[in-house]
Amino acid sequence: QSPGVVRAALLRWYAGVHGSRGMPWRKSYDPSLGLEDRAQRAYEVWVSEIMLQQTQVATVIPYYTRWMENFPTIRDLAATNIDQVNALWKGLGYYSRASRLLAGAQKAVAQYGGRLPDNAKDMEANIPGIGRYSAGAISSIAYGERVPVVDGNVHRLLSRFLALHAPPKAKATLDILWDAAAAMVELEKSPVDCSTANSSETTPIERTQYAGDINQALIELGSTICKVRDPGCHLCPLRPWCRAYAEASPGLSKRTDAI
Ligand code: ADE
Repeated sequence: QSPGVVRAALLRWYAGVHGSRGMPWRKSYDPSLGLEDRAQRAYEVWVSEIMLQQTQVATVIPYYTRWMENFPTIRDLAATNIDQVNALWKGLGYYSRASRLLAGAQKAVAQYGGRLPDNAKDMEANIPGIGRYSAGAISSIAYGERVPVVDGNVHRLLSRFLALHAPPKAKATLDILWDAAAAMVELEKSPVDCSTANSSETTPIERTQYAGDINQALIELGSTICKVRDPGCHLCPLRPWCRAYAEASPGLSKRTDAI
């Protein structure tokens, strides 16, 4: 199946749910934002992604809000010290995340004019604590770069979608999953991808098929529907193309080998 058809179904589903959990870092994509505003978005998404690495959305929200009140910009963060950062992190656990945020902010201010690099490759190579997943999430959401993300949620979702009966941590498996995730954000020139076909020229593809939305839709679908146990296949917009569903239907929830 062409990724365009799957992507369209995914984005239609995401449009109905993206505001539902009140995530303050999740803002609509605005293609008219200038460089400074995008860099500010990158800072906000970075903080949220690091907090979300080992912590649930509902727990993160008040911490995120408090953090942004104390360190509204990357320069405010860079100017503080580890004790203040740890005090705000108290209760979230995995404190190394907080010290990496501080170190990353200090490097961004010292070497990059107070901005995170505007692409995933440079971000991953140069900012401490930003790995492939975080770089993809930040760059796609804040800068609109067409780069993929594979976190635990997307790993599980795509493994099922492709019915990859393969060792989950093997390099070959990870390569397949990153390639599949990349195919979801890359736009091919096919008729189904002409998102402008039934709309006007004022809604270009970059806006209607924004990479940040595609990635967040995959994360959200993995975390809320395609769950570890009892995946909600009856609610899943990708069910028509899901190979694990086709193989296992109607007993997918009993299977573990496709995870
Ligand atoms: N978990 C990690 N990143 C997320 C995001 N952008 N939206 C929802 N849950 C997430």
